Amino acid sequence: MLDVSMNNLQFGYDKELVLSGVDYKVKAGDFVCLLGQSGCGKSTLLRLIGGLEKSSPQELLVGGRPVDGPSLDRAMVFQDYGLFPWMTAGDNIEIALKQKYRDWDKHQRKAKALEWVRNLGLDEDLYDKYPMNLSGGQRQRFATARAFALDAPLLLMDEPFGALDAVTKALLQDTVLELWENGKENRKTIFFVTHSVEEALLLATDILVLGQAPSKIIYTHSFTEATKPRRETLFTDPAILDLRNHLTKIINDEINERASRLKEEKANGDPGKTSFFKRKKAV
Ligand SMILES: Nc1ncnc2c1ncn2[C@@H]1O[C@H](COP(=O)(O)OP(=O)(O)O)[C@@H](O)[C@H]1O
Ligand SMILES: [Mg+2]
Repeated sequence: MLDVSMNNLQFGYDKELVLSGVDYKVKAGDFVCLLGQSGCGKSTLLRLIGGLEKSSPQELLVGGRPVDGPSLDRAMVFQDYGLFPWMTAGDNIEIALKQKYRDWDKHQRKAKALEWVRNLGLDEDLYDKYPMNLSGGQRQRFATARAFALDAPLLLMDEPFGALDAVTKALLQDTVLELWENGKENRKTIFFVTHSVEEALLLATDILVLGQAPSKIIYTHSFTEATKPRRETLFTDPAILDLRNHLTKIINDEINERASRLKEEKANGDPGKTSFFKRKKAV
């Protein structure tokens, strides 16, 4: 069980800030969905929590401790899957298990990996294929299987279902929810980045919306066990529909504001701070 404390968290890759004071306490066992337009810093926030980028010690605490590099208690599903291309999809899971369960033999690792491959609805025939020979959705499911197989108390998932068709997406959303709910009093803490308001409503206990970079949290909503939407109520419950419209409006307003600022900058011949192109160039 791991809680996450973001205390006015600031971060920039170079001179420009990407996160300018993210402040939120996540209780152990919460399911956090992060929304916000492209480039606002969602992946950056996950990378900081995952220890892939360095944060100031007191600004980010996981389980009460400053984050000091990656750790096996935090499993990541990356936006671009993060599978090693030179290994089969199955070996990608087994190598992660080898790091965590050092006394397991190959047979035990394969059994655990296959269990998760099946849990994610993947055909076992795909196990020995290389990632380049799998579809985007299959790769994403192998990456998810790898993260789940590690059984880490904190899961960091970056747009994991973005590349999936609607039916597969719904199946996997249910799988993640089940996995999380079955944890009962020992639930995993999950950070899940999505562009879909509906997906956030379906999965989250806490929805956080990040504003434009350099970003802060501009909106939060928490559900209790009783108010948490279900797939059946997502499009019928008036309170949830209101919230859905409200969230969509917040995000659209941000997009419109940025678009008009970009237009203004272009008209003035000034590639200012909000310029997507300028920031990209700086990378
Ligand atoms: N490794 C990096 N080095 C420098 N800048 C980066 C790096 N990764 C991301 N950025 C920049 O940081 C900003 C936030 O990126 P990111 O966290 O990927 O946003 P999001 O996931 O919300 O789309 C963007 O302007 C992006 O270009
Ligand atoms: Mg991203």
